[in-house]
Amino acid sequence: MTWLITGGAGYIGSHVARAMAADGERVLVLDDLSAGARTRLPAGIPLVHGSTLDGELLKRVFAEHAVTGVVHLAARKQVGESVAQPTRYYQENVGGLATLLNAVAEAGVQRFLFSSSAAVYGNPDVDTITERTPCAPVNPYGETKLAGEWLVRAAGRAHGIATVCLRYFNVAGAAEPELADTGVFNVVPMVFDRLTRGEAPRIFGADYPTPDGTCVRDYIHVADLADAHLAAARRLAGGADGDLTVNIGRGEGVSVRELVTLIGDVTGDPTPAIVEPRRPGDAPRAVASAALAERELGWSARRGLRDMVESAWQGWLLHHPEARRA
Ligand SMILES: NC(=O)c1ccc[n+]([C@@H]2O[C@H](COP(=O)([O-])OP(=O)(O)OC[C@H]3O[C@@H](n4cnc5c(N)ncnc54)[C@H](O)[C@@H]3O)[C@@H](O)[C@H]2O)c1
Repeated sequence: MTWLITGGAGYIGSHVARAMAADGERVLVLDDLSAGARTRLPAGIPLVHGSTLDGELLKRVFAEHAVTGVVHLAARKQVGESVAQPTRYYQENVGGLATLLNAVAEAGVQRFLFSSSAAVYGNPDVDTITERTPCAPVNPYGETKLAGEWLVRAAGRAHGIATVCLRYFNVAGAAEPELADTGVFNVVPMVFDRLTRGEAPRIFGADYPTPDGTCVRDYIHVADLADAHLAAARRLAGGADGDLTVNIGRGEGVSVRELVTLIGDVTGDPTPAIVEPRRPGDAPRAVASAALAERELGWSARRGLRDMVESAWQGWLLHHPEARRA
């Protein structure tokens, strides 16, 4: 197999590319470097600098590298931005995917893995989200992921491509400090950011119907997520056909308050959080059932929350040396 990893210079993609290469797979990366960095990839993994919107380039890459499988992570991922710029999100996330799937079908590639998201579910009122929980995204970002899944499955059926859609829950941590997420869009870096500025972390809403009143989420270590890709790639390479859509989470709920307390412990800065009003659109609870992934992929998460926070903090310190305490 030769795997093309789109978005492989990004936070999650670089973990996936390294994990697959370390497992002996031949991999190459396509990334437009709009949010990724060449330095995330070791010398042995070739990088094609270009976009999934460039059909001619994709055609050349498939032919020149004899690609036999695709792991598609390239996408815009900021919810707020998707609300402000929905056409851009549909164009890049759905249009880019359609262009890519055209090239996949033309090149006769028969294995395709798609980065989906728990955002496809919206805010379901259930204790545990299974793959049968109805999908009802509440923002354009989530809509592009759901439309992406539809497109992946339809193209799979039409062109005989075996497909897997992985619905990631809240991704955190880093396998190595230099691979850490450099954006401040998720709760862990957001809290680091506040502490680094000498400000109190913020909790949005403490009156939810949850044990401590703050929102509950399912956090997954990015290295475990990379292992899930490896398991899915092996399933595809092993000749599995049809499509599979699975949650990738730990199946364990953690409240924002618990997370902030742990971050205080790990960073040595226990500044108490301040409670602000709820943000519109936040679900009280979003926790995955991880059973199907275990059954179908033989995969389950191994790393815990402390490991996620500690490794994310090491990565944060690399990019924000001013955060280091004497
Ligand atoms: N980070 C999370 O918590 C999370 C959760 C669920 C799903 N996801 C999905 O996982 C994937 C990777 O997310 P990430 O957190 O690593 O984000 P990221 O921004 O770090 O990585 C995305 C990569 O794709 C590249 N890219 C974007 N558009 C491109 C295009 N049109 N052509 C080529 N390259 C392009 C960017 O330069 C970047 O390197 C995305 O599809 C995202 O929607 C992420």
